[in-house]
Amino acid sequence: MSNPKADTVLPLQVPHLDTRRPRARKGTAVAALVALGLAAGFLALGDVLGRGRAERGQHGLDPFFSQVNTHDDLCVGGVSHSGYIGLKGDSEETPKRSFFWYFEAQNNPETAPVILTIGGGPGTSGMLNALLGQSHCALTENLTTIRNPNAWSENFNVVALDHPVGVGFSYGTHVNNSVDAAYDAYDFLVKFMSLYPHLAKNQLVLAGGSYGGVYIPHIATVIHEQNTLLARGGGTHGAVHLQLESMMVSNPMSDYLSHNRWIMHQRCYYTDLYNASTCATAYEALPFCLEAVQLAYALGTVEARVHALELCEANQVEVPGRSFENVEKRCNGTLEDCMPEGVRAATFMNLPGTKATLGAREDITFRSVDLEVNREFHAVGDECQQAHLLYEPLLAAGYRLLHYIGKLDANCAWPGVLSTLKLIRSQYQPAFAAAPDVPWAGENATLRVVGPGAGNFTYVLMGGAGHFVTHDQPALVKKIVGHWVGNVPFQ
Ligand SMILES: *[C@@H]1O[C@H](CO)[C@@H](O)[C@H](O)[C@H]1NC(C)=O
Ligand SMILES: *[C@@H]1O[C@H](CO)[C@@H](O)[C@H](O)[C@H]1NC(C)=O
Ligand SMILES: *[C@@H]1O[C@H](CO)[C@@H](O)[C@H](O)[C@H]1NC(C)=O
Ligand SMILES: *[C@@H]1O[C@H](CO)[C@@H](O)[C@H](O)[C@H]1NC(C)=O
Ligand SMILES: *[C@@H]1O[C@H](CO)[C@@H](O)[C@H](O)[C@H]1NC(C)=O
Ligand SMILES: *[C@@H]1O[C@H](CO)[C@@H](O)[C@H](O)[C@H]1NC(C)=O
Repeated sequence: MSNPKADTVLPLQVPHLDTRRPRARKGTAVAALVALGLAAGFLALGDVLGRGRAERGQHGLDPFFSQVNTHDDLCVGGVSHSGYIGLKGDSEETPKRSFFWYFEAQNNPETAPVILTIGGGPGTSGMLNALLGQSHCALTENLTTIRNPNAWSENFNVVALDHPVGVGFSYGTHVNNSVDAAYDAYDFLVKFMSLYPHLAKNQLVLAGGSYGGVYIPHIATVIHEQNTLLARGGGTHGAVHLQLESMMVSNPMSDYLSHNRWIMHQRCYYTDLYNASTCATAYEALPFCLEAVQLAYALGTVEARVHALELCEANQVEVPGRSFENVEKRCNGTLEDCMPEGVRAATFMNLPGTKATLGAREDITFRSVDLEVNREFHAVGDECQQAHLLYEPLLAAGYRLLHYIGKLDANCAWPGVLSTLKLIRSQYQPAFAAAPDVPWAGENATLRVVGPGAGNFTYVLMGGAGHFVTHDQPALVKKIVGHWVGNVPFQ
């Protein structure tokens, strides 16, 4: 099977954000007070459209667990559905359940394309994507929701997934690598489509960022492989063909070698994040990191990969008062200071009223980043892999691939991304290497487009945005997503 070899497995230092959990006791106390008020509100308003119910699957798939709530008050601006789908191996005694939150497109939900959106990490919740800019609502500082004018869900069905199991509200048996995780994502998608059969015929787009640069090509690979098997009469009994059309990736790490080869250029030359003495030390250490990664690629062993991670991570120096995720930000490095919206989102998800409306298990504490999942992936060296090579057969099979990159990110920085893209062998490689980055008229961004429409292989570099592109440039990102999914020329 076209399952990637162990040495093509995975990616990157944990985005630095991930290692710094909200710590402020004060903030938590304030949030708890707000939470009580909100919970009462939820009880009074109720869950107008329906309560969760456990169901068995339909449409020829073997029976599976599902429990879905439908509501329109928790996230104002539209209808959404949330809950659990049991994955292969799931049972009441040994659960393995994916949590999702599906935002119906505000316009033409029956026919609108479906965007699956997942978090990075490893261990980051996909719900943050929804609450920090992609869904039809946005959180206020009071933990209420207001309409989001830049919602991806205006014209697209957005399905946020807590991937893999163990992340966010997903729970049960864990996997510890991006290959197994991709099979779980496929299993989820097939079952999701059986619950919403009208969506199964619509165009499907995979979206992610950061460690999504590893997850996305793996998931697309499994979808392509399983679609091919189904077409030959094999595959999963009763599964539908998934209408995967393209992939959309922001500030990723896909190739650990390219990532590390260029990261210090972003921190030392293209920005002022690191000072001269930090840069001197970093460049002295760099060849040891690169050599270890190359050796890990050649050997493909867990030991070699983990050793490479250790050498490369030792080279990451934090700068007081600065954020890796956006070099223009001045903040103390904690999530609450550098991105208070992220803390707010986690607080919101943990409100009893939120959990009840979503149908999430009340005994699970929602965390923006699950450090256990992160540790488990790290323990097999999953970050140290060449996931970008998985794009080669996918591009040859006709899937389109977008990278949209915030220029101010020093975590998954554009020089490493551009280098990775140049290394991907495809029919687009010569044209991509030769193409200029053309200014996008009226936008603070450049475009490198190969192919008709929005392109088959496209690179958008955005000014004024760091790692969290949707958070930093919500209107521009909405525009990019619209052009990309509709396959409409950018200019
Ligand atoms: C939050 O609540 C305070 C006090 O009720 C109010 O003054 C403020 O406008 C609210 N903020 C938002 C963004 O709703
Ligand atoms: C350079 O940056 C490092 C790390 O932020 C800091 O510890 C050091 O004091 C700085 N050195 C100079 C000369 O500014
Ligand atoms: C960082 O900033 C936050 C919010 O401004 C503050 O509450 C916290 O104490 C600061 N933490 C550190 C370690 O400076
Ligand atoms: C990864 O998961 C597999 C399957 O559960 C397990 O056998 C293996 O020991 C795990 N690897 C590490 C390094 O934890
Ligand atoms: C490029 O994308 C177009 C859709 O815009 C598609 O029709 C075409 O087959 C793709 N090209 C290749 C070589 O796959
Ligand atoms: C465009 O982006 C650059 C780099 O991020 C930024 O410095 C500049 O202020 C932005 N320009 C405008 C007009 O927003």
